[in-house]
Amino acid sequence: MKIELSVNGQSLPINAAPGDSLLRALRAEGIHSVKHGCETGECGACTVLVDNKPVNSCVHLAAQAEGHDIRTVEEMGALPELGWKTTAGLHPLQQAFAESGAIQCGYCTPAMLLASQQLLQKNPNPSEAEVRDMLSGVLCRCTGYVKPVQSVLHAAAVMRGESKPGDMFTPSEIERFFIPGAGDGSKPTPDGDPLGGNGTTAIQVLPRVLIAPQTDNWKKVGRPEMKVDALRLVQGKPTFAADFEKRGLLHAKVLKSPHAHARIVSIDASQARELPGVAAVLTHADIPRVVYSTAGQSDPIPGPLDMFSLDTKVRFVGDRVAFVAAETPEIADAALELIKVEYEVLPHILDSRTSMNPDAPRLHDEPEYVNFEESDPSRNLAAHIHIDIGNIEQGFADADHIFEHEYVVPKVQQVSIEPHVVVTYWDEDDRLVIRTSTQVPFHVRRQMAPVLGLAIKRIRVVKPRIGGGFGGKQEVMIEDVAAHLTIATGRPVIYEYTREEEFIAARSRHPMRVRMKTGVKNDGTITANAMYALSDTGSYGCHALTVAGNTGHKAMALYVGDGKYRESPNIQFITDVVYTNTPPSGAFRGYGVPQGFWPVERHMERIARALGFDPIEFRLKNALRQGELQPFSTAWSEGREPSPETIMTNGLEECVRQGRAAIGWDGKFANSQWREVPGRPHLRKGIGIAMVMQGTAIPYLDMGGASIKMNDDGSFNLLVGATDLGTGSDTVLGQMAAEVLGTSLDNLTAYSSDTDFTPFDKGAYASSTTYISGAAVVNAAEKVAERIRIRAVKILNKRGDGPDVDPGEIHLEAARAYALDGRYVSFSEIGHDSLHHDQQEQIMGVGSYVSPVAPPPFAAQFAEVTVDIETGMVVVDKLVMAVDSGIIVNPLTASGQIEGGMTQALGYAVCEEMVYDPQGRARERDLRDYHIYAAHEMPELETIFVETFEPSHPFGVKAVAEIPMDGVAPAVGNAILDACGADLFENPTIPERVWRAINSSRER
Ligand code: FES
Ligand code: FES
Repeated sequence: MKIELSVNGQSLPINAAPGDSLLRALRAEGIHSVKHGCETGECGACTVLVDNKPVNSCVHLAAQAEGHDIRTVEEMGALPELGWKTTAGLHPLQQAFAESGAIQCGYCTPAMLLASQQLLQKNPNPSEAEVRDMLSGVLCRCTGYVKPVQSVLHAAAVMRGESKPGDMFTPSEIERFFIPGAGDGSKPTPDGDPLGGNGTTAIQVLPRVLIAPQTDNWKKVGRPEMKVDALRLVQGKPTFAADFEKRGLLHAKVLKSPHAHARIVSIDASQARELPGVAAVLTHADIPRVVYSTAGQSDPIPGPLDMFSLDTKVRFVGDRVAFVAAETPEIADAALELIKVEYEVLPHILDSRTSMNPDAPRLHDEPEYVNFEESDPSRNLAAHIHIDIGNIEQGFADADHIFEHEYVVPKVQQVSIEPHVVVTYWDEDDRLVIRTSTQVPFHVRRQMAPVLGLAIKRIRVVKPRIGGGFGGKQEVMIEDVAAHLTIATGRPVIYEYTREEEFIAARSRHPMRVRMKTGVKNDGTITANAMYALSDTGSYGCHALTVAGNTGHKAMALYVGDGKYRESPNIQFITDVVYTNTPPSGAFRGYGVPQGFWPVERHMERIARALGFDPIEFRLKNALRQGELQPFSTAWSEGREPSPETIMTNGLEECVRQGRAAIGWDGKFANSQWREVPGRPHLRKGIGIAMVMQGTAIPYLDMGGASIKMNDDGSFNLLVGATDLGTGSDTVLGQMAAEVLGTSLDNLTAYSSDTDFTPFDKGAYASSTTYISGAAVVNAAEKVAERIRIRAVKILNKRGDGPDVDPGEIHLEAARAYALDGRYVSFSEIGHDSLHHDQQEQIMGVGSYVSPVAPPPFAAQFAEVTVDIETGMVVVDKLVMAVDSGIIVNPLTASGQIEGGMTQALGYAVCEEMVYDPQGRARERDLRDYHIYAAHEMPELETIFVETFEPSHPFGVKAVAEIPMDGVAPAVGNAILDACGADLFENPTIPERVWRAINSSRER
């Protein structure tokens, strides 16, 4: 039917089907700022203003919108200069979001901007609570909402004339938060909050940073620079994978298994193929049978090969049965209904404890299965690790006390607001282009080649902006579907997961049952520490070995014991990773380490309390220190030869000191008066701590590449294969290049990633981008800087207006090459000269880097909670995290990582969990049943960075992205114990579990 919409003041005549949503209609007209995040009106990513009211356009019919005024971010504001044309510039909200670091992936940003605009029109001076309430309709999985809320308050002040754009953090504010020379530990640092102990989210965007002295003279590294993609994202530009138009685009859908375990006896797709508008239907009989792994990892993939694009067997409810491509999503859905499948239903396994029973049904009986190390499909075993460090039995024999218990951690989902999405098409040279929302473009190219029957050189993978990944997009999971259909039809194909598909068919965190056994002497020395982890990989072994390996490698490395045990720790880690008939687990931010720290840190707390030790002192007495060996580095390296590694930097003690002061530990811990809430006898307050460590990259394996070229105006192009998935890696890599080159960040255009044009990079995972790809960028920039110095000397010496100079005397600053006497050549002169005049050359550098080490970041995580002892309801009031991530390249993006990570971890602590019914059907299928934190539910968050200078990196950095996932759940669990004696062994700490634990503590 024909309707006429009024969009951004323009009349827009469209053809829409009666059931078309406004979201679909707007996107079909190229209004790409309106995003798809769900289909059920829960995420808010599709928000538009209809008659000046925020509306979820996914559940609003296009026809309903006729005759109403529709506004989107496209008309909000634009850059002030666009060539010869000038505009009114960005709206203060857009400016504030860009400046403050409120944007990570930027997928939710247009919706937040519109909702905020509407609030400020109604209420020019809103309180923080009012801003949070307004933002509660737009879910963000990246930011923790701290900076978006601040941005709205700041924009409101600008619009009232009380502040200026660009004044979000003045030099004096930077001084207040950045404490120079403190990070080397050589002089005492101020404790606590620089604002006087009242650090609420309402008054700060910047984190507090205790700065290492090595950074004193740096101009770009360490500064709160605006993200290089921020301006693009606040304008809602079409930068994501689905923001792409292609004539003849087909829509893919996948027929899913209704059974947890079944053999496909027959498939009849004839009726589906005959349906008008259907371009192709593919079953296992139509495509080659190639075994592979969907885990996006380096070669060789450290895990079993146990997956086919389409198989003759299904192994979970939601597994693939057939692919359809059609002219519209509705026709594709109708075609799925017409495919007739006869199944032989097989017995299934849902409980990992039964997977290895001798009579258990076998999930993988296919002859093509390729083992990795000790995987054994005849026992449903995807991976097995056994690591002995020292002599565990002797350690237990030496102990005065043995503590043993089992802990359980749940399956949880990454929930990036942008679902998985891919577009494939043949280009004019018959090369297959895969435009995909991925963390691992180069792994996609390598892993898809054999599956599609194409040489690597005939595949080009383009990674545009990504709307969040969190490990979920380290999986080569949907690219083959669209690619097979493009090969079958010759036409471009888009495949975009629905939110339900995200829950029933995408990857998630491996759930585990973990048994801890720890020996302790009377003086609190740990003599032996053992962990057995039973990990559930679901129906396929994606990341099975490496995730579980990390559970031991990081979480069990932190406590080595003291005295002679510190010198020679006794640690044992054993894991079995088993198949069950549930959706596959996979990579999720933290990568096995959060699963390890729930048991380790709950266990340490229980031991400390049982033996009457202060929980902080007990931990620090036994924790790994600077100068000691990472104990697991002597024993395990993801299936490769281990390489002993010394901890060169460890700021854990300072992190504890800072965090403890910031949360007011000394006035609250063991203070029975503080625990009571006046006038609320059913409430108890509690405080808890967890100490954690992570890793930085995978030694001798993770590799990053970068290239930099100089242009004729003295600007630079930085090309990196590293994948910015909203973390700000393009920005921090640009800052490092700018620091070496002596130029500003905006004189450098960063681009990532396209397998045809950018150098190789293993992708965004293992917290490695700043460290590995950063070192590659520095390497490339140093080569460019050297050529600039040589060309500058030639120009200066030719001028003859002073003594001759050597390249070694030239320093680069402010886009100029300076001689010691102050004479200089501008970069624009050098660039122009090099490309057009004297001895022409392209000034360019290519660098790459592989690290021999994986220096761990350390952190102290604190939590304060209030527990309702009648209902078991837990409210987390405050989270403080003090982190040693080495040098902080950009405090805005780094603190955004910590705030967002703590928020994701908060869900893991208190409410997120995926559960299956006895038939293996998922209980959680949308964002109503699977609750993630919204802006109005957030506790106060505080981030403190304790800088150390990691000597293995030119800028002294370590990882930051994953460590905030590790400590929140155990710190919350320990705080609940402190509040009311409820001893929880399983997270999340949902009311029923807490209530039962309270009751059993009363019975004890
Ligand atoms: S609320 Fe509309 S896409 Fe999620
Ligand atoms: S920045 Fe909000 S979802 Fe990524």
